[in-house]
Amino acid sequence: MRIYFDYNATTPLAPDVIEAVIEATRSQFGNASSVHHFGQRAKAALDDARSAVAALIHGDPSEIVYTSGGTESDNFAIRGAAEALEPSGRRHLIASTIEHEAVLNTFKALARRGWHTSLVPVDQTGIVDPERLRELVTKDTALVSIMHANNEIGTIQPIAQLSAIAHQQGAVMHTDAVQSVGKIPVDVRALGVDLLSLSAHKFNGPKGAAALWIKRGTRLQPMMTGGKHERSRRAGTENVPALAGMGVAARLAASKLEIEAGRLRALRDRLEDGIVRAVPGAAINGARDLRVPNTSNISFDRVEAESLLIALDLEGIAVSTGSACSSGTLEPSHVLRAMGFSSHRTQNSLRFSLGLFSTEQEVDRVIAVVPGLVEKLRNLTRTPKVQKSAVS
Ligand SMILES: Cc1ncc(COP(=O)(O)O)c(C=O)c1O
Repeated sequence: MRIYFDYNATTPLAPDVIEAVIEATRSQFGNASSVHHFGQRAKAALDDARSAVAALIHGDPSEIVYTSGGTESDNFAIRGAAEALEPSGRRHLIASTIEHEAVLNTFKALARRGWHTSLVPVDQTGIVDPERLRELVTKDTALVSIMHANNEIGTIQPIAQLSAIAHQQGAVMHTDAVQSVGKIPVDVRALGVDLLSLSAHKFNGPKGAAALWIKRGTRLQPMMTGGKHERSRRAGTENVPALAGMGVAARLAASKLEIEAGRLRALRDRLEDGIVRAVPGAAINGARDLRVPNTSNISFDRVEAESLLIALDLEGIAVSTGSACSSGTLEPSHVLRAMGFSSHRTQNSLRFSLGLFSTEQEVDRVIAVVPGLVEKLRNLTRTPKVQKSAVS
């Protein structure tokens, strides 16, 4: 039995989504910009999906712009707002320290081009204190970008409060909601944001299908120049099958949102309780309550998370670390570091993320397997006792 507990990395497609993608590939192959029958069928598929995506976040379909992924949506929001506001003289951008690389590296790129950037910290539980944001926002701030839910620890930020603070100084508010849309109710009006990123492959839709919600009236410079697709906001022929799949995934998520959230919370809590009870030195990272229901980040004292990840994979269990392995060096999670954790704890942490096909049996299997593996790895790394010589 193989167990997939890495839904925050990506999710398997729901069966209805697979059907929709196949059907659109077969019969909605036209270019949605073409005026003939084939084009109009493709356009109808895009419109239908747009309504479903808009409904999932309580936006208007005309405010949805399709993109190729959460990464593109984040880039479009940040670069587009920065460029649109440049003539106003606002040259300051704010994000949080725990953003996804799609945001942090876009900030770094803009900083190299002369933008002034600030990062608002999080507390030990991984939450931004609105007062810390208030200290940073000024009349020079063009954009504030703070994620809704964090991908590594699942914590949910007080976006409505943060938006109000950004708006008091006239800044545009963006939230990367890639890890919250489809997991918890998301209402763009209640959040008070101007821009919101979402991505289909995090809620059982296809990869390469995503959207940026742009509140009507928000000034944004298009990043892609070309034809007049997406009301001239994002040029390029739309990927109809993937976007049709996103529409079906959005409807599915909306229809199951509350039931799934409750089911996953129960499974996640069972997993956490089981592991913490059975493994000495195991601790949950991040706020307990202000979290998406599917995510658990656990540190295991005196165990290298990478070794545990590999040992679990050999047992058929897929999880992940917050670490990015780049060019042979292990980088400790920037999220856990930003929470003030020691380098040991950041390197001892594993993320378990559950989803649509996760079951109680799977949870129980993981609870049964983890303690033994942790014990084994601890014994392997224990420094050998110096043997006393028999002859003195
Ligand atoms: C919070 C967050 N933002 C953005 C992204 C990027 O989305 P995509 O993989 O669709 O480019 C991810 C994906 O891991 C994410 O978790």
